[in-house]
Amino acid sequence: MLDIEVIRADFPILDRVLPNGKNLVYFDNAATSQKPQCVIDAMSNFYENYNSNAHRSNHTLADEASSALENARNQISNFFGAKPENMIYTSGATEAINLVSYGWAKNNLDNGDVIVITEMEHHADIVPWQELSKEKGVEVRYVPINNETFMLDMEAFEIALEGAALVCVTHTSNVLGIRNPIEEIIKMSKENNCKVLIDCAQGAPHEKINFEELGADFLAISAHKMAGPTGIGCLLTSNERIQEMGPFMTGGSMIKKVTTDGSTFKDGHAMFETGTPRIAEAIGWGAAVEWLGQFKMEDIHNHVHDIAAFAGKEMTKIPGIKIFGDPTNKDSSGAVSFLHDTIQSQDLALLLDQGGYAVRTGHHCAQPLMDALGVPSTNRASFWIYNTREEVEGFITHLKYICERFA
Ligand code: ALA
Repeated sequence: MLDIEVIRADFPILDRVLPNGKNLVYFDNAATSQKPQCVIDAMSNFYENYNSNAHRSNHTLADEASSALENARNQISNFFGAKPENMIYTSGATEAINLVSYGWAKNNLDNGDVIVITEMEHHADIVPWQELSKEKGVEVRYVPINNETFMLDMEAFEIALEGAALVCVTHTSNVLGIRNPIEEIIKMSKENNCKVLIDCAQGAPHEKINFEELGADFLAISAHKMAGPTGIGCLLTSNERIQEMGPFMTGGSMIKKVTTDGSTFKDGHAMFETGTPRIAEAIGWGAAVEWLGQFKMEDIHNHVHDIAAFAGKEMTKIPGIKIFGDPTNKDSSGAVSFLHDTIQSQDLALLLDQGGYAVRTGHHCAQPLMDALGVPSTNRASFWIYNTREEVEGFITHLKYICERFA
């Protein structure tokens, strides 16, 4: 069982009072989570005591920075059940997916090859494939969602899989909170001799992700939605796939030898980590996985699910509110997207903010999904480990008041 009050005490920002005197109630966790004090301290400690570049100079600080960067790689890859040598630091999940597109797909797919994605992907898992299609002539197939259940249409997936070379699917929708049947998707893809990329940006904060057990070819992860800092994430991949990859960005750090005639590149993850590494961010992410490691991810999922399901049930009772997704589904994450039938989503967000409630509004970088839902945007409340049922009760009261007063 999680002790939410003890957990909340780790997050200084949760005591924040907003300029209008309201206490912050942070329900925008699918955009980014808050950071515990130990993550903030680990990063400050680096800058205060051993700030230096990594893998370059031969002095004490440089050695300490290099060791911390690689210790963090060990901690993070271990947390995700992957080999450290097959973990590539990136700026986040977006860069990780672009790395698969430019570093693997560009070298291994060709004109006529098929990439299967879904209508519920984030733009980060759509646009790189559209760009590759322009460059290489690959075909991009979109698997639709069922507009009643909001789940992926698995019959359509099976048909789309026919002759495909790569499947790219989000673990959990950032809009709908729907968790896709990724185990089944990976199994079906493998049976069709198809490579698989899973976008775990939204899944990793909510359940235990084990790369080796899942058996996907690529997992893209962001630190900042799971208590880590912004500006860092990773691509996890396998021995086979990393050997098939070519450089994405070129420059310092990733080379073996540069002459005026040309260059040769390092092997493994080093080929893809160009320029000065994200040292402070890696240290912060290492501290975040250590902090998360004290809990069972299953307990986090169950806590978040309980409050999201409660929020969903109560919101459905408010006249004019429509929910997109199914927060009561036991697999759903903590994202609850909703709209009011007459109050504009931007207005609703501002009115919620006046009560101290931070939610996200917009297309959530998922415009094809908005088109499929037939709406331009949604409001989205997204919950995480430190949110409480009392916060949700206050939110429901405030939402009811707004709907009665302004509809
Ligand atoms: N992709 C993040 C979100 O859904 C930023 O808000």
